[in-house]
Amino acid sequence: MIAARFSRIGFILAAAGSAVGLGNIWKFPYITGENGGGAFVLIYLMAITFIGLSIFIAEVAMGRLSRSDAVSAYESLAPKPGPWKFAGFTLLTGILILTYYPIVIGWVFKYIWVAATHLPTTVEASGAAFGEMLTQDASGQIFYFTLAFLCTFLIVSMGVKKGIEKLNLVLMPLLVIILLLLFCYAITLDGFDDALKFLFVADFSKVRATSVMEAVGHAFFTLSLGMCCIMTYSASLPENANIVRSSFTVAVLDTAIALVAGIIIFSLIFSFNAEPGQGPGLLFISLPPLFAQLGMAGTLGATLFFVAVAFAGVTSCISIVEPGVLYLTNRLNWSRPLALLAIGGVAYSLGLLALLSNIEHTGDSLKLFGMGAFDLFDFTSSSILLPLGGILVAVFVGYVMEKQKLEHLLLPYMHPRLFHCWYFSIRYLAPAGVVAMMINKLAA
Ligand code: PHE
Repeated sequence: MIAARFSRIGFILAAAGSAVGLGNIWKFPYITGENGGGAFVLIYLMAITFIGLSIFIAEVAMGRLSRSDAVSAYESLAPKPGPWKFAGFTLLTGILILTYYPIVIGWVFKYIWVAATHLPTTVEASGAAFGEMLTQDASGQIFYFTLAFLCTFLIVSMGVKKGIEKLNLVLMPLLVIILLLLFCYAITLDGFDDALKFLFVADFSKVRATSVMEAVGHAFFTLSLGMCCIMTYSASLPENANIVRSSFTVAVLDTAIALVAGIIIFSLIFSFNAEPGQGPGLLFISLPPLFAQLGMAGTLGATLFFVAVAFAGVTSCISIVEPGVLYLTNRLNWSRPLALLAIGGVAYSLGLLALLSNIEHTGDSLKLFGMGAFDLFDFTSSSILLPLGGILVAVFVGYVMEKQKLEHLLLPYMHPRLFHCWYFSIRYLAPAGVVAMMINKLAA
């Protein structure tokens, strides 16, 4: 049992802080660009509504009912003792994500500085600068990576109420304000209408064979599902919280922020006839020279933009650490500093390997299965382990847990018909969607 409780708004902002991250501002726009825009957005919205939201509610229910760490949650909610408690170890996926996520936050920190002082003016110069940082500048990247790591661990060390809740109460509203300011600015740009058309007019001829799967996979990553993160935060839900409405609010906020970030980015892209299907370099390579065209306003806009991305990244990163910390402190009675030191030590060392695997003269010796450590950690966690964790939640809640417990918890907040839809989705739609996605991703 854990004692620390969020306030109602504290929980919503902390869960939204976890959900809204690099996935929304960096990944969503570039995969939407690669998948042709509107039709992909529509598929993604369906994946969030029918699969993501149901698993989200299931994780919240498990956390709220057990009020414990993930391993104990599976153990105490299973009707009889058995191997289900091992499902709680899907929290270990967090350690793998912690190896590369702070590296990308480190790039964002560096780009705040680049944006404020010397935005590159051409796409070529921008690509060269990013490539140079990624493949040559080990010490610079280690510096920013360490900074991202320290920020994250400092906040988690202060605990759920004084660290995590407080930070989210400040950073999440600031993030929304910055994005709204940039959105207002985007409205004045020539490319605004084209951006709306690109994102909201569905042209199914542009959809790729793997688009549906990519949409389902991203729905998972962006809602922080499959690694016991939402489950862990939900163990600290206040007694009187409306968990269905809170879950809905988080999913809506997460989606809205991804769409707003998409509109801002594509307004810039279309204002200067740049290429929307750039891939992962969209944020770090394509955007800076476009901001540079806008003079002083561009410098300010770019700086604020990267500050917003940093806020989103840090609030997500702290949520990736907490499941492991809660397990070690709650279940194994470790002290919080010791738990942080252990998790931090492992993730930081592996993170250094991931970072060096992108560097030209060290990369070759850090390859495994033909992939650099960075790509390997990213692929294993988001394409294999998170979906696997999601299926376990769906199967456990849909087939193993007593339905009565769920009805007792959820019916006060949900129309019985809606409850049936949710239960159907958790038993059939969500597992089928995730299995199909994994097969497709692994075969691709
Ligand atoms: N949801 C976060 C994002 O969109 C990433 C994340 C994944 C956070 C898993 C926690 C757990 O960037």
